[in-house]
Amino acid sequence: MERGIVAVTGGASGIGLAIAKAAAAEGWHVAVADRDREAIAAVRELFPDATRFAVLDVTDEGAVEGWIAGLAAAGRLAGLVTAAGIAADVPVLDTSAEQFRRILEVNVTGTFLCARAAARWMKDTGGGSIVTIASVAGLRGSKGRAAYGSSKAAVINLTQVLAVDLARWGIRANAICPGPIETPLVARVHTPATRAHWIAHVPQRRYARPDEVAGAALFLIDPAQSSFVTGVALPVDGGFAGAGLTALDA
Ligand SMILES: NC(=O)c1ccc[n+]([C@@H]2O[C@H](COP(=O)([O-])OP(=O)(O)OC[C@H]3O[C@@H](n4cnc5c(N)ncnc54)[C@H](O)[C@@H]3O)[C@@H](O)[C@H]2O)c1
Repeated sequence: MERGIVAVTGGASGIGLAIAKAAAAEGWHVAVADRDREAIAAVRELFPDATRFAVLDVTDEGAVEGWIAGLAAAGRLAGLVTAAGIAADVPVLDTSAEQFRRILEVNVTGTFLCARAAARWMKDTGGGSIVTIASVAGLRGSKGRAAYGSSKAAVINLTQVLAVDLARWGIRANAICPGPIETPLVARVHTPATRAHWIAHVPQRRYARPDEVAGAALFLIDPAQSSFVTGVALPVDGGFAGAGLTALDA
């Protein structure tokens, strides 16, 4: 079957960028959306000429609907990857209601709006695959993640509901739960102490490169590889989520 369009939010940086590049390299027709105009301009040359780019805020319902409708008019929307997200590492007692609401608005409502818009088109065109980018912070209570962890737990449950509600139309939905990945977001949020803490708790004792998440996303997008996989929250985390006591390093 001819490769359709794979739309990637947050596609101008970090994990979203790595997934978008890998999808283009696999022959998918990639559409990158990001709210950061300058970041989009900086990555354009990394993609084939036919790649579509959009400046988009995923919390803007009308803009999201318009973006997805434009893609669906151009071809078959085969996949959506929702990598747009924001984070904070703030003790719960210092977390303002405003910050809590903002993180949920981008990470949860933004994911919902994009997934709903995509599914409305996918349901009439033979199905598709929705891949949300959650986090191990949505699987475990981690320090300073009151807002962020809550948002990612919500993304995981939202993804499970999408899998249930949309299965009848051949639409699959799966979440990827990255552990620590070297991206601009992590460079902003992780202090040296936070980095040391992570490395002590990840059995592989390292952060990953963004392209190490891309393979999992490509697997979940491609029905030839994952047609019976839906409703899954897949950690890509160097062993963090599965770990109890970790072995002492030699
Ligand atoms: N880096 C990690 O260690 C890590 C771990 C777990 C989960 N994640 C998740 O992966 C996703 C990508 O993170 P990253 O580390 O690549 O960050 P990043 O900051 O490098 O990239 C995120 C991109 O999302 C865009 N974005 C933010 N808000 C947006 C909005 N409202 N509308 C459209 N675009 C918006 C940003 O402009 C940016 O280009 C996020 O959802 C993040 O929570 C990251």
